[in-house]
Amino acid sequence: MKKQVCKVVFPAAGLGTRFLPATKAQPKEMMPLVDKPIIQYGVEEALASGCDQIIIVTGRGKSAIEDHFDVSYELEKMLEERGKTDLLAIVRQISEMIHIAYVRQKEAMGLGHAVLMARELVGDEPFAVILADDIIDAQVPCLKQMIEIYNETGCSVLATQVIEGKAISSYGVLDAKPVPGKWNGRLFEVQNLVEKPKVEDAPSNLAIIGRYILTPAIFEMLDSTPLGAGGELQLTDGLKQLLKKEKIYGYTFEGKRHDTGDKLGFLKATVEFALKRDDLGAEFRQYLKTLEL
Ligand code: UTP
Repeated sequence: MKKQVCKVVFPAAGLGTRFLPATKAQPKEMMPLVDKPIIQYGVEEALASGCDQIIIVTGRGKSAIEDHFDVSYELEKMLEERGKTDLLAIVRQISEMIHIAYVRQKEAMGLGHAVLMARELVGDEPFAVILADDIIDAQVPCLKQMIEIYNETGCSVLATQVIEGKAISSYGVLDAKPVPGKWNGRLFEVQNLVEKPKVEDAPSNLAIIGRYILTPAIFEMLDSTPLGAGGELQLTDGLKQLLKKEKIYGYTFEGKRHDTGDKLGFLKATVEFALKRDDLGAEFRQYLKTLEL
């Protein structure tokens, strides 16, 4: 019987240079969208998708992530004494949410290298990777949609999104053909992958987004892949090796993706998430209307 996807790896050891100076002493994964750190959105998506084993790949200066998901006795005691039961519940809910394992990437040697660091904790089973920067607002969690595809195909699945114009050059891009059938044109069989192509060289407008279901064979591939662009071990290069052995699918998920690793994307997501909040939305909307735009 096919093994189920239970483990989710969160690579969170990157340097976050696009958000300097905010990320000089603070992990970008801890930057809040309204009042919740971006990585918590990803962890909640994993849980809502039925994955209860979380592995976070951290690096230097990332201890705030561990503290965030840990118990904070002093804070809980203080909130209890002051009778702040609502806040106490929010704080407790985070540490009670789940058990998280941490593994360290000593040097930021690329996304592929970060994933490889989780090899022992993942073992010989399929697993998911979530890049916390990509927050996907969806009725059915994006990861859950992808797990459904994995359960049918038994193959690795990459989340994809159509990106128009020049912006495609910032992504890994798929050369892929649509799979006919019940998938409403959303499923593609990957023929090749190209990392950050020039617009004129892009094989399609299907960009790889920060959600992956991977078979454990990826570890062997990454282990034998030489360092690529920027002296980093690229996940895309490992996937190209994997493609020689196994089928890989691309899946254009249903839902809205916010690229919070980018300043403009982060601002847009903040506005949209704030507008949706029961406690803030109405007042915030009124405020926005008063701005002379
Ligand atoms: P990014 O390409 O967004 O890089 O990494 P970054 O360092 O986080 O941010 P910028 O571009 O400098 O602003 C994609 C994901 O891979 C992780 C990052 O933490 C992020 O989740 N990553 C990247 C690692 O864990 N280790 C690495 O060596 C590189």
